[in-house]
Amino acid sequence: MSSKGLEDVIVTSSAICNLNEKTSVVEIRGYDLLDLAEHSSFEEVCYLLWNARLPSEKELKEFTQTLAEHRQIPTGMIELIKRLPRTSTMDSLRTWVSALAAYDSEPEDTSTEAVLRRMTKITAVMPTIAAAAYRISQRQEVIQPDLQLNHAQNFLHMILGKDVSISLSRAFEKSLVLYSEHELNASTFSARVITSTLSDIYSAITAAIGTLKGPLHGGANEEAMKLLLAIESPENAEKYVKSLLAEKRRVMGFGHRIYKLGDPRAKLMKQISKEVGEETGQMRWHEICEQVERVVAAEKKLFPNLDFYSAPAYYCLGIPIDLYTPIFASSRVSGWSAHILEQLQSNRLIRPRTMYVGPSGLEYVPLGERQ
Ligand code: CMC
Repeated sequence: MSSKGLEDVIVTSSAICNLNEKTSVVEIRGYDLLDLAEHSSFEEVCYLLWNARLPSEKELKEFTQTLAEHRQIPTGMIELIKRLPRTSTMDSLRTWVSALAAYDSEPEDTSTEAVLRRMTKITAVMPTIAAAAYRISQRQEVIQPDLQLNHAQNFLHMILGKDVSISLSRAFEKSLVLYSEHELNASTFSARVITSTLSDIYSAITAAIGTLKGPLHGGANEEAMKLLLAIESPENAEKYVKSLLAEKRRVMGFGHRIYKLGDPRAKLMKQISKEVGEETGQMRWHEICEQVERVVAAEKKLFPNLDFYSAPAYYCLGIPIDLYTPIFASSRVSGWSAHILEQLQSNRLIRPRTMYVGPSGLEYVPLGERQ
C-alpha cells in the first residue's frame, strides 16, 4: 500500500518540533510555539532551534550580535542581482541563496561547527537578499542593513525604507516566529532529502526555497492576499467565495494536511492581523478575512492556516505582496537549518520506494520498425 502525498507516513525521528494534531499544540524543542511568538525574539527562537535550549541573556546578546554582523550581501552580488532579468522575488531569493556557495571557500564541509557557521550566515543574509531583490525589481534604491536594529526591525527597515512603531515591528516579529519551524512540511523534507545525500547546505536550502514557493505550501500567503484584493469588500466575500467553490477551486490559506480542526498558529496570526489593522486604520482586509473564514467553514468545514491571516497583516504593514513568501522562507530557514543539522548528525540516505503500476515485460521494437 502506498500513501499518496506520504500522508501520515513517519519518515524519521526528530527532537525539533512536536506537532500534536489532537490538542492543536505545536512545540519547538518542548516549548509551545505560541508562547515563543508572544515572548521571544526571532533570534532567541533561532538559538533554541539550533542549540536545543533557550539561551542565557549573555548568549542571546552575543548571538544577536553575530547574526547582525552577517547581514551584508557578499561584495559584488548586488551588481549580479541587477543584471538578472526581472523575476519574482522568490525566484531571485532561490537563485542568490544558491549563488552564496560560490562565496564560500569550503561549501562541502559538513562538520557541525562549519554547518552552524553557515546556517548563521544564510539566516542573517536572506532578508537582505530578499529586500534588495525586490527593490531592484522595482528600480528602487537598495537599503543597507542597519546593524543597530534587531533582525525583524532591520528586515522591515530594508523592505519599507522607513521605521515603523515598536508594536508593528513586534507584530512582524511574531509572524516570523510563527513561521520559523513546523515539523516535516514539504520544504523541510526537501532540505532533509538533499542533506541525506551529503550534499551541501546551500543546495539543501535552495531546494527548500523552491519547494516553499508552490501555492499549496508557502506561496499560499501571496495567493491569499490576491484573493482579498479581488474580493474588495466584506459584502462581496460570500458571493465570491461560493462561486470559487462552485468552480471547484481552492481558497488559498485554508486547509491543512495535519490540522483538520484548525491551525493553532492561525489563531494567533488572526489576532495579530486585527491589531495591525487597527493600528494602521485598515480594518477592511481583516473584515474580509472574517467573512471568508465564515463562508469556507460553513461550506467546506475548512479553517484558515497560518498563511491566511499573515496576508492582511503584511498588507497593512505596507509590505509588497511579492515579498510575503520570501519572508516566510527567510524565517523558515531557521527550521530548515535545524533539520539539516539533525539529519547530518544521524544520517542515512533517504531513498523511499514507489509502488510500480506501469506496464511490464514489453517486447523491445527497434526504432525503424515502430508504428
Ligand atoms: N479550498 C477548497 N477546497 C480545499 C482546500 C481549500 N483551501 N483545501 C482542501 N480542499 C479540499 C480538496 O479540494 C479536496 O476535496 P475533494 O476531496 O472533494 O477533492 C479535499 O479538501 C482534500 O484536499 P487534499 O488536497 O487532498 O488535502 P491535503 O491534506 O493534501 O491538503 C493543502 C492540504 C494545504 C494542500 C490544502 O488544504 C490546500 O490546497 N490548501 C490551500 C493552499 C494553502 O493554503 N496552503 C498552505 C498550507 S499551510 C502553511 C504552509 O505550509 O504554507
